[in-house]
Amino acid sequence: MPKRPSVQTTAAPLIPESPTYDKLRDAAAGCRACPLWETATRTVFGEPVGRPHGGPRVMLVGEQPGDQEDREGRPFVGPSGRLLDEALEAAGIDRSQVYVTNTVKHFKWKGEEGGRRLHAKPTTTEIRACLPWLAAELRVFRPDVLVCLGATAAQALLGKDFRVTRQRGEPVDSDWARIVVATVHPSSILRAPDPEARERQLDAFIDDLRAVARLIHGLGASGEGAHASP
Ligand code: URA
Ligand code: SF4
Repeated sequence: MPKRPSVQTTAAPLIPESPTYDKLRDAAAGCRACPLWETATRTVFGEPVGRPHGGPRVMLVGEQPGDQEDREGRPFVGPSGRLLDEALEAAGIDRSQVYVTNTVKHFKWKGEEGGRRLHAKPTTTEIRACLPWLAAELRVFRPDVLVCLGATAAQALLGKDFRVTRQRGEPVDSDWARIVVATVHPSSILRAPDPEARERQLDAFIDDLRAVARLIHGLGASGEGAHASP
């Protein structure tokens, strides 16, 4: 019997040599390293690449693109993204300064409701398959400040024992960046059971981002011009 080709379960062989942002994004567009590409529309890679005002590099990592991100091909442009923008603004962080990406680059979903496809949680195998893209983004972008949004990003980058509920908003020791912080995912706030809970959770999220803003400002001029643009 002919041997079946082995199933590729990691994106690692697809990472270009001497990667740049453009090379990574182009290579990721054709990734089929795990089954998630089959039911999604496209790879949603991190962006933006420029920092029009200079300053420290800040990277925010979510879980995976949602329904709208999958349609538009851009991270955090749907309801979670709007809430994130609102919270970043309230915390005094300029979104144009921030590189936003996801742990998993294809949208995973399970059925539809009201014309929207419903998010499904990526498995450990899918997260592991996709992680080489995020690791390469981190190598290319070299953030001074890395913010994990929610447990998927935090556990993928900081270990499976990391608990956002216990360690949110506190700097964590990690080699990924000078300053690494985890907080909740904005979609958890959208799922709050009532308006009061939502407001409380949003305030706590903004507080965590304010702490990040203080850390960013603390880096101040030392981050400025410390790296060439990717
Ligand atoms: N949730 C995420 O984690 N990432 C997105 O890009 C959108 C929603
Ligand atoms: Fe590749 Fe990640 Fe998409 Fe899986 S989710 S096909 S590993 S880009």
